[in-house]
Amino acid sequence: MFRRRRTVVGPAHVDNLVLEPRDVTFDWANLPLHWVPGEPFVTHTINVLHLLLPAGERWFVHVFTQALPLIKDDKLREEVHGFMGQELIHARSHQSVLDHWKAKGIDTDPYVRQIEWMFQKALGDRELISQRREEWLIERLSIIAAIEHITAMLGNWALNSPALDAAGADPTMLDLLRWHGAEEVEHRAMAYDLLTHLDRRYLRRVRGMTVTWPVMLWLWARGVVFLMRTDPELSGRRQKARWRYYFRASRRHLLPPANDIVRGVLRYHLPRYHPSKEFSTGQAVAYLATSPAARAAAV
Ligand SMILES: [Fe+2]
Ligand SMILES: [Fe+2]
Repeated sequence: MFRRRRTVVGPAHVDNLVLEPRDVTFDWANLPLHWVPGEPFVTHTINVLHLLLPAGERWFVHVFTQALPLIKDDKLREEVHGFMGQELIHARSHQSVLDHWKAKGIDTDPYVRQIEWMFQKALGDRELISQRREEWLIERLSIIAAIEHITAMLGNWALNSPALDAAGADPTMLDLLRWHGAEEVEHRAMAYDLLTHLDRRYLRRVRGMTVTWPVMLWLWARGVVFLMRTDPELSGRRQKARWRYYFRASRRHLLPPANDIVRGVLRYHLPRYHPSKEFSTGQAVAYLATSPAARAAAV
């Protein structure tokens, strides 16, 4: 069986790191529908990212824009701007996959519209007076900090997933996942630092995660079911998504293992948790130096 590359963890910092948006683009003209060959379940489980992230990351930027006037630290404000620039390009890049599918006749709008409703309405702005408005802002920042912990975990996994290369996964899609994953690792402390700059309460932080992980799991499972049913190359029983497919694929290191995710979510509850203690900025920056999309954006 293929062995997973050892995950690099720990406070591997890069001094004076400045968060910079990289203006990447991706060409999907040659993207196979099952971009992990012969693995529709793995392909669609990872594809759920394209359904969730465009609306989600635009919402991050919307909420962070409201937090900007409350920031009393110039360096933090500068990092927030860098974070917002990165997230907008992430959203655009995942949107480009949805646009490519649509041009090929695969319509994800019915699912994406539900995600947009969640971020724009259920988690959108509310008519509240001053202090309550700020409470609602901080509540949403605590949800973003929790999501960012999960995206950094997934990004770290993407950077350490050689089984996908061995399975013949499409190199452009792998670059999207690893470029995005590397930037998630790079800015993993940003949302947490903004939240704790405005509200240091432990319960506020963990409440964000308590709401976030079950909803993300539910949306992810529904997203896989939706994509398998929408897939024009699958029919009959092959369209069904099963939990055992996930466990089988994660044992082959084609998807993140459930125990790593559960342990990662639990670590977020430790009182001394800080994102900088997780994963490796050095590894993220090293990938970004070789990423074809990031290199093309730099010239
Ligand atoms: Fe992102
Ligand atoms: Fe992020």
